[in-house]
Amino acid sequence: MKLELNALCRAFGTHKALDNLSLNVSETRALVLIGPSGGGKSTLLRILAGLETPDSGGVILNDETLIFEESTLLQHRRKTGVVFQSFNLFPHLTTLENITLPLTAVQKKPRSEAEHIAMELLRRFHLEGHAHKKPAALSGGQRQRIAIARALAVQPQFLLLDEPTSALDPAMTAEVLDTIAMLSEQGRDFILVTHEMGFARQVSDWVAFVAEGRLVEAGATESFFNAPKSNVTRDFLAKILKY
Ligand SMILES: Nc1ncnc2c1ncn2[C@@H]1O[C@H](COP(=O)(O)OP(=O)(O)O)[C@@H](O)[C@H]1O
Ligand SMILES: [Mg+2]
Repeated sequence: MKLELNALCRAFGTHKALDNLSLNVSETRALVLIGPSGGGKSTLLRILAGLETPDSGGVILNDETLIFEESTLLQHRRKTGVVFQSFNLFPHLTTLENITLPLTAVQKKPRSEAEHIAMELLRRFHLEGHAHKKPAALSGGQRQRIAIARALAVQPQFLLLDEPTSALDPAMTAEVLDTIAMLSEQGRDFILVTHEMGFARQVSDWVAFVAEGRLVEAGATESFFNAPKSNVTRDFLAKILKY
């Protein structure tokens, strides 16, 4: 995917969550966003998902300018798969119903076709045995993998994942990271926010470091981690890789 962010600004009250953030990536399959909490990563992801509108600045995705008007945003949301930290699934619906809902309600597919697509995905993720369970009966890792399956069901042009493992224990984290790695191997484009640096390094081809609402530094993964240019990036990596 090709991504161009031009001087994005978004304030909440007087606080600038995004403060002239620009980023230009001419080709990426797996872009990872890293940086300290409160730096604006989620706000940026929500803008890319079409769930939030910037006060100023622009987004160009694959040479198409994203227009922040309700009708265009609706279209955009339909083509975008989103997975958040938690609370992704509807608690009153089964796994199968959670996955078929966007297919029947939004894409207007017949129920039988929607269920076929959902079961295929569940099989791919080795979750078919959980099709008729509700989220409360599943582990956090299973819930996140189902959320990823649901995001994929609509065949999105790319996936946005916002700290999908931060609410999980290490074993469940590994499960979810394996799933994301599999998507990556299959050539699915995604943008991932994570604090899992080892994974970020392994799976991404491009890294952007965001702090205080700005882009501090971005680069191809290996050069970014081997030779960070900015002191802020170096300090952040040193701190996060210490333990
Ligand atoms: N809906 C909102 N209302 C008020 N403040 C918000 C809202 N969303 C984000 N913020 C603030 O904007 C800043 C950036 O937040 P966020 O994008 O969530 O950062 P990150 O994901 O990097 O931790 C934070 O100071 C946060 O408190
Ligand atoms: Mg966040």
